[in-house]
Amino acid sequence: MLTDFLLASLHHLLVFGLVAMLVAESVLLGGAIDRRVLQRLAGLDMGYGICAVLLILVGIGRVVAGIKGHDFYLHNPWFHAKLGTFVVVGVLSVLPTVRFLRWRKAAAANPIFVPGDAEVAGMRRLVRFELILLAAVFVFAAAMARHGGL
Ligand code: HEM
Repeated sequence: MLTDFLLASLHHLLVFGLVAMLVAESVLLGGAIDRRVLQRLAGLDMGYGICAVLLILVGIGRVVAGIKGHDFYLHNPWFHAKLGTFVVVGVLSVLPTVRFLRWRKAAAANPIFVPGDAEVAGMRRLVRFELILLAAVFVFAAAMARHGGL
């Protein structure tokens, strides 16, 4: 019971951190991008990646050591929808990560470097799309937890 409570609490905190960092990225991508903003974007993106990896580990912990038992999830279509959507978000997030690192490298080589407007707008759209997919993950999570009783 205590393990389940601790894993559930960690899970919620990590989800909160993950969403907060993605929202912050989206806001920063909506303003002027200078060297300092590029540093912050790269830092946020690293925090986002760390949260995502920890979330997978804690999520697996909940499946294996949670009070409902792993069978409840492995035969639960909402669990697969949730995990699949989360994986899609993870794959999509590779693009902004690579782009932020490239921008930071360019800014280190050239102090007046500014990324192109179209490129920034593309990344902003992608980050917002990730947020929309994460909203779906929340809905799948609620359905998953109540599978069999919906
Ligand atoms: C951004 C990604 C994620 C979000 C937004 C999210 C969200 C949530 C939410 C809101 C709940 C509570 C559901 C409820 O009680 O109504 C939950 C529960 C849970 N999540 Fe996640 N989650 C994420 C990632 C993961 C991953 C990657 C895994 C597994 C590998 C996972 C496994 C679980 C488990 C096992 C529960 C317990 C459900 C139950 O009470 O039966 N989650 N999640």
